[in-house]
Amino acid sequence: MNINFTYLPGDGIGPEVGAAAIAVLNATANAFGHTLDIEEHLIGGAAIDARGTPLPDETYASAKKTGAILLGAVGGPKWDHLKGSDRPELGGLLILRKKLELFANVRPAKPFAGLIASSPLKPKYLEGVDFVVVRELTGGIYFGDKGRDNSQENNISAYDECRYSEAEIERIAHRAFQIARTRRSKVTSVDKSNVLETSRLWREVVTKIAKNYPDIELEHTLVDAMAMHMLTRPRDFDVILTENMFGDILTDEASILCGSMGVIPSASLGEGSMGMYEPIHGSAPDIAGAGKANPIAMILSAAWMLRTSFGLDTEAAAIEAAVKAALDARQVTSDLGGLLSTQDVGAKIGEWVAEHVT
Ligand code: NAD
Ligand code: IPM
Ligand code: MN
Repeated sequence: MNINFTYLPGDGIGPEVGAAAIAVLNATANAFGHTLDIEEHLIGGAAIDARGTPLPDETYASAKKTGAILLGAVGGPKWDHLKGSDRPELGGLLILRKKLELFANVRPAKPFAGLIASSPLKPKYLEGVDFVVVRELTGGIYFGDKGRDNSQENNISAYDECRYSEAEIERIAHRAFQIARTRRSKVTSVDKSNVLETSRLWREVVTKIAKNYPDIELEHTLVDAMAMHMLTRPRDFDVILTENMFGDILTDEASILCGSMGVIPSASLGEGSMGMYEPIHGSAPDIAGAGKANPIAMILSAAWMLRTSFGLDTEAAAIEAAVKAALDARQVTSDLGGLLSTQDVGAKIGEWVAEHVT
């Protein structure tokens, strides 16, 4: 088949982990007799530098047309002086997610056996951990009205509005319950309803939607306590449903159960077949250009794209098996205690696929 997708490497380590993932996709396409039809475009800081905007029209047009997007990461110190939608993050990534209506971001936490020792947490907490975070992705405080109020001469203030509509909460809740049906039938909804009005609406709406899913167990947890439960009893969770900012923060924490932020992929999905696949990590300016970035999150994101956007289950499974083999053999980057470069990890995983597909 012809695998036509939009590739947005972005900034910092984005192009490095991206190159490794493209190498794995090439090896996989060769092994299975497919062709890759890659539409590479600029986003974020790289797009600001080359085109004066973090989301050029042709980038959006390609993403909309192919409906399958593989994204590295955006942002970095070079663009940190910019504000609002001039920034790589808001003007590039967040607006792209919003325009494509990718409201559901799924982030798994299931430690690979080969990585249990890489986590700072004791193995007894990690064995059997297997949950997904369903993060609302196109609402809440990241998208509300924001600005500065300079009316008080010696005391400026700043504000970010957090707003959620019933419809926004309903659709993400449905998605979480539907995902729970394919797993262990439990949803933990995370909010801050003891303080925030948006969270009180969130809790009401999730409770209402749960009535359509009598087969699914629902519990509600406050986000501050959840930050603790995730480390002290991570095995208890199956599907964690939460709003945009809490999901952003909790998933960086969850990545530590899995050894490194560099191993967690994600899928950003909407109502239709459109999908953007993106590691949860950022552009890692502290290691960019050093060949140290772990490409596994990006490689697993590419596998997820093959499975979900192209229906290529066997191909995705081959990549996942190759990742597992690399981890078991400790053919990993330094964040996991290994000696390999980004490029070498990609090459090893590609070679494994080539050797094991007949
Ligand atoms: P970060 O995720 O880039 O890095 C946090 C830490 O994790 C750093 O020490 C980094 O070296 C390490 N790390 C991240 N990914 C790694 C990988 N694949 N392999 C090995 N180590 C890895 O977060 P940050 O430093 O807070 O943010 C840096 C920039 O990235 C900011 O501009 C931020 O806005 C942006 N960002 C972008 C995305 C995205 O595009 N999806 C996500 C998060 C942050
Ligand atoms: C992520 C990132 C982004 C987010 C930033 C870069 C806008 O942190 O994908 O987790 O907050 O969604
Ligand atoms: Mn994040």
